[in-house]
Amino acid sequence: MTARLLEGKTAIITGAGSGMGKAAAKLFAAQGANVVLSDINKDAADLTAKEIDRTGHVKAVYTDVGDDESVQNLVKEAFNEFEDIDILINCAGVPQFFTPIEEMSLSEWDKIMSVNLKSIFLTTRHLVPIMKRKEKGSIINIASIAGIRARPGLNAYCASKGAAIMLTRALALELAPFKIRVNAINPGPAETPMLERFLPGDSQKVEEDKKKIFLESVPLGTLIQPEDIAQAALYLASDLARAITGEIMNVDGGRGV
Ligand SMILES: NC(=O)c1ccc[n+]([C@@H]2O[C@H](COP(=O)([O-])OP(=O)(O)OC[C@H]3O[C@@H](n4cnc5c(N)ncnc54)[C@H](O)[C@@H]3O)[C@@H](O)[C@H]2O)c1
Repeated sequence: MTARLLEGKTAIITGAGSGMGKAAAKLFAAQGANVVLSDINKDAADLTAKEIDRTGHVKAVYTDVGDDESVQNLVKEAFNEFEDIDILINCAGVPQFFTPIEEMSLSEWDKIMSVNLKSIFLTTRHLVPIMKRKEKGSIINIASIAGIRARPGLNAYCASKGAAIMLTRALALELAPFKIRVNAINPGPAETPMLERFLPGDSQKVEEDKKKIFLESVPLGTLIQPEDIAQAALYLASDLARAITGEIMNVDGGRGV
């Protein structure tokens, strides 16, 4: 049997109740990590925990990643349970319906910025003191190909992901002296519950739009699977990527080319 890549490490994964976060949680646990599953949908995080089924190596924590106290509590609970935290995957996110800028509400703008961007600030600021103490850590931010390639009507979403990418690079430089690596993954259009929440309309129209708007824009001709993102995150989290920081990895079937 080949050695497992994350044996004995502990990972916090936000958005672990669905899609890419869930796939990463399963893969990381299979690779030997203790996993802390964070989600605003606690039932969904509990379900992921059940599916992983490694008694004692998994913990689900209710978190609103846009709320400072809630994030502080997440880090505290993770540390109390496993006495260390090596890896953080910022995966929680919200989509945006295609909305002309003049129709975009302030509350929707703030929500998108809070969950997709401020969350990275909050989780990192609470976790970094632990990582700095032992001079080791890997932080992976799930941004989006929409952070480098704009789409009309996705104004707030593109802005939140573009900023997440730049925050990743800024933190990579700032934290490099402490051997804390910070990288981002840009998924292309992915087959998760989020995809159709970008698209208004009935289910038949959503299927047509999915094909037309998303699938046809991917040179490899297939939607990304959540497991594709999990595999990229596994590599970046592991010691195989020990020389990599500040990298923005497109996992997008060529959409960003
Ligand atoms: N699906 C795509 O096509 C796609 C493409 C590019 C990037 N992304 C990004 O990938 C990441 C994962 O997306 P996904 O497709 O797996 O989505 P998903 O909707 O399947 O999962 C997102 C999870 O985040 C959780 N969440 C939402 N708000 C939260 C909050 N305030 N606090 C804590 N948890 C919260 C949800 O409950 C859900 O479990 C997101 O950041 C998304 O923006 C997705």
